[in-house]
Amino acid sequence: MQIVHDIRALRAALDPQCGKRVALVPTMGHLHAGHLALVQLARSHADVVVVSIFVNPLQFGLGEDFSAYPRTLLEDCDKLQKAGVDLVFAPTVIEMYPEADDQGLHQSVLIQPPAFADQLCGAHRPGHFAGVATVVTKLFHLVRPQMAVFGKKDYQQLMVIHALVRQLNFPIEIIAGETSREASGLAMSSRNAYLTEAQTTQAPQLYGQLQRIAQALLAGERGYLALEHSACTQLQSDGWQVDYVAIRNPVTLTLPRTDSTAWVMLAAAKLGNTRLIDNLELAVSLP
Ligand code: PAF
Repeated sequence: MQIVHDIRALRAALDPQCGKRVALVPTMGHLHAGHLALVQLARSHADVVVVSIFVNPLQFGLGEDFSAYPRTLLEDCDKLQKAGVDLVFAPTVIEMYPEADDQGLHQSVLIQPPAFADQLCGAHRPGHFAGVATVVTKLFHLVRPQMAVFGKKDYQQLMVIHALVRQLNFPIEIIAGETSREASGLAMSSRNAYLTEAQTTQAPQLYGQLQRIAQALLAGERGYLALEHSACTQLQSDGWQVDYVAIRNPVTLTLPRTDSTAWVMLAAAKLGNTRLIDNLELAVSLP
């Protein structure tokens, strides 16, 4: 496995792979079993698997955890080598955003995602999805993969990437990986590392509320607002600071109609200082 830190070395490493099917798995590192499942998915589709590891400052807002975000490059590379990855691209901030050196990140060209990105996580993290769309666009240009793998755990991000590829005509197939969960139901996330032992025990409540909504929908309830409100209230009374619990159309992320047969339930909430997100898709077949 080759590890490169700059764009010139990346291009040189990719040159001999011309004509092969290349899959990119973009990550911010501190890799867990969920990331490795995405790598396996990439491996099953491609001849060459490239993993990027880059904690992207553009997608963090003021007061967010950019500095504290866990950086574990050596351990990550060890895991990726064992997983059969061919190439790791782990650039510095200056390599990705040379203007940041003297003019600051605000001088960067930004890719502005469509308006649906301004709701849900976008409403609570202004600029986040523009930061994601910008770095992913750069990675697509640099690696030029035939396919790229993203986890469904970041469901709204996945929809932003689909829009990016469709609207900017990237010849890239997006492959969505299922969310990996702990036995408790907690979605795997690099940010779970911030949780105390007690919070780790409590954290599956977020997924539990999404499952409760799914049960209600399966039982025929269609009072979406009431279902969202009840999940929020329960989480708040358990000590969570809730950003949102939302029931949406799984393709457009708009409010679902009462005759819908497919939904995605999404939630974001803080336990102590740790913000967790999760989602659950549900579809019923018509009688
Ligand atoms: O999902 C992530 O880890 C990041 O948002 C991504 C896609 C690697 C872009 O920085």
